[in-house]
Amino acid sequence: MISGHLLSAADLTKDEALNLLSTAKELAAITDGPNKKLPTLRGKTVVNLFFEDSTRTRISFETAAKRLSADVINFVAKGSSVSKGESLKDTAQTLQAMGADAVVIRHGSSGAAKRLADTQWIQAAVINAGDGTHEHPTQALLDAFTIKQHLRNDKEDLTGVKVLIVGDILHSRVARSNVLLLTKLGAQVTLVAPPTLLPVGVSDWPVKISYDLDSEIEKCDVVMMLRIQLERMADSFFPTEREYSRRYGLNSTRLSKLSKNAIVMHPGPMNRGLEISAESADDLKSVIIDQVKNGVAVRMAVLYELLGGAQLGDSK
Ligand code: CP
Repeated sequence: MISGHLLSAADLTKDEALNLLSTAKELAAITDGPNKKLPTLRGKTVVNLFFEDSTRTRISFETAAKRLSADVINFVAKGSSVSKGESLKDTAQTLQAMGADAVVIRHGSSGAAKRLADTQWIQAAVINAGDGTHEHPTQALLDAFTIKQHLRNDKEDLTGVKVLIVGDILHSRVARSNVLLLTKLGAQVTLVAPPTLLPVGVSDWPVKISYDLDSEIEKCDVVMMLRIQLERMADSFFPTEREYSRRYGLNSTRLSKLSKNAIVMHPGPMNRGLEISAESADDLKSVIIDQVKNGVAVRMAVLYELLGGAQLGDSK
């Protein structure tokens, strides 16, 4: 059982993470049936507070909350009073006045979710849906769920699973949260990137570092391609997109080197033709659509645990 907020994958013990994955599996089984809706969070209000663009995370949190019968308020900064200069504090206090029980926040500044949780501007549970280049813990949970579903379904954790995370590690909150969570669950993680796209201090992370995708790809069970975050790049981090793609992109030649049961992941949105070719994204080894689908069940589990819903299966 997790309590309080979910700001970082580091907030979760191994048991709490495994418990969330198990709850998500149970919820997925229920909502795959004819009755997708559970009454567990009836009377609760979930606010989606998005200061940055999102498709998957925002829609899946909304779907997750609605499937648990919570009321959902969607706040998108564009078109709100934030455009007139309203601060995070005033926005949060407005949401507090509206009775939010949980706030799902995405923000361009690293640490924004923690600031919201620490300042007591709002009494609600805060869930980090991506803060700058820092973390995206529910993405890591849905990735762990998807890896377990495909490779370790009957096993307790991810012990021994070899995961390659490839690409723009420097700007990736997905990579940070995944390194924290997947290693906690027993996976062996290798980061593959050009030196310019690795963060300072990465040598202290519990991972292997490689600059050579071709020497790693045959050995992995999971290859997770990261989006090149062109919108966060003020400098030139690689000579050309063509050169990046040649050295670090997933293409049909590299796809053919993957082991028989290996899977291809990408958190989305994808730059098809840059970090991943269209045929790799659409290959039978790709579980990218499963990641999106599993995002709903995992976010239901997080809301359920944080908001203390009624027992699963209680339909009164
Ligand atoms: N993976 C992810 O965070 O996607 P969105 O930006 O569409 O939410």
